[in-house]
Amino acid sequence: MTADGDAVSHMFYKKEENMSKVAVVYWSGTGNTKIMADKVAEGAKDAGAEVSVFTPSQFGPDKINEFDAIAFGCPSMGDEVLEETEFEPMFTDCESKLGGKKIALFGSYGWGDGEWMRNWEERCGDQGIQLAYECVMCNETPDADGEAECVALGKALA
Ligand SMILES: Cc1cc2nc3c(=O)[nH]c(=O)nc-3n(C[C@H](O)[C@H](O)[C@H](O)COP(=O)(O)O)c2cc1C
Repeated sequence: MTADGDAVSHMFYKKEENMSKVAVVYWSGTGNTKIMADKVAEGAKDAGAEVSVFTPSQFGPDKINEFDAIAFGCPSMGDEVLEETEFEPMFTDCESKLGGKKIALFGSYGWGDGEWMRNWEERCGDQGIQLAYECVMCNETPDADGEAECVALGKALA
């Protein structure tokens, strides 16, 4: 291998090593937040991150340190709350361990005004979690602007 060849292979090695690892963890009942999660993952991948997508049963506190950044997605459920059976318990287990990570929130809502997201953001603030990007909310199925916001959120985490 020439000196040039060595330099090139070293550059590739460094690139792989420096790729940021992004997790997208979402719950979706009727698919709207899933569309958002897929767009967040697309944005992060396009920006060069290694992306893993999880549902709540596949993620927990033991996984947090495998990632540099985590995007959490959950629609407004119940009466302006996170989905209570799977997402809420998972997030409760994780929230005190998210300090120092790049975190972002997204989700779809219906007839409300986004109260669930305001409460979720405040809850993160109370835990000392610094959000790396503005929360992205979409009314029911994301439109083109909503999808673009999700892509931008993913890029910001990469
Ligand atoms: C049981 C249930 C409770 C809901 N509660 C709210 C609510 O409190 N506020 C609101 O804006 N939308 C509410 N919605 C509407 C959902 O947030 C909305 O349909 C969203 O797009 C669902 O996302 P998903 O397709 O990812 O499940 C509720 C929907 C269901 C099924």
